[in-house]
Amino acid sequence: MRLAPSILAADLTDLRGALGVCERGGADLVHFDVMDGHFVPNLTIGIPVLKALAARTRLPIDVHLMVSNPDRLLDDYLAAKPAQVAVHWEATPHLDRQLDRIRRAGARAGVAVNPATPVELLADALPALDYVLVMSVNPGFSGQTFIPQALEKTRRLKRMIEISAPNVEIEMDGGLDRDTIGRAVAAGVDVCVAGAAIFAAGDPVAMMSELRERARLETV
Ligand code: DX5
Ligand code: ZN
Repeated sequence: MRLAPSILAADLTDLRGALGVCERGGADLVHFDVMDGHFVPNLTIGIPVLKALAARTRLPIDVHLMVSNPDRLLDDYLAAKPAQVAVHWEATPHLDRQLDRIRRAGARAGVAVNPATPVELLADALPALDYVLVMSVNPGFSGQTFIPQALEKTRRLKRMIEISAPNVEIEMDGGLDRDTIGRAVAAGVDVCVAGAAIFAAGDPVAMMSELRERARLETV
């Protein structure tokens, strides 16, 4: 299991401190949530902040674009050289084109699916994907309650991947904490995003260790 702290849940007046937490806690990726106030009912951080963070850390950055028509600004996000970028299935009519642009820029290409979107819709997109981001909350806010149907969806997706695209990874995002992370990993999740669980904890670095341990117990 790889762990991707979501800095949206950190103290937004101290993003450098949030990167420090990620580094000390051994984060595998830094999850960067972009919301446009249109695709989701919230507005967060965008290209200038991504560029600033990318210049301050060697950790790979995991961009999650919760924006309508991601094609409009995709090249600007890619210019910051994130390790991977996910666009939402629900946000673009030309998914294949966006995935191709992401890969051509040297980043790993992902698609995110909302809780009500069936993963079966991804059957023809799997070969163009490096990962699927399964939303386990309705996107828009940190600190929401985990939606357990995401587990069954992950199991179905895992079967599809095993049959037709074994290199595709599964990332899960939303409501993952010490109580839910084990079930996610047992269902087949490779990368766990965690926001509030880490940054609202008294000791975020210790919580990252605890989350890893809870995940490890599911895989031994
Ligand atoms: C939700 C975001 C998530 C969020 C996760 O729309 O995409 O990445 O920050 O936060 P938690 O782990 O608190 O649900
Ligand atoms: Zn996210």
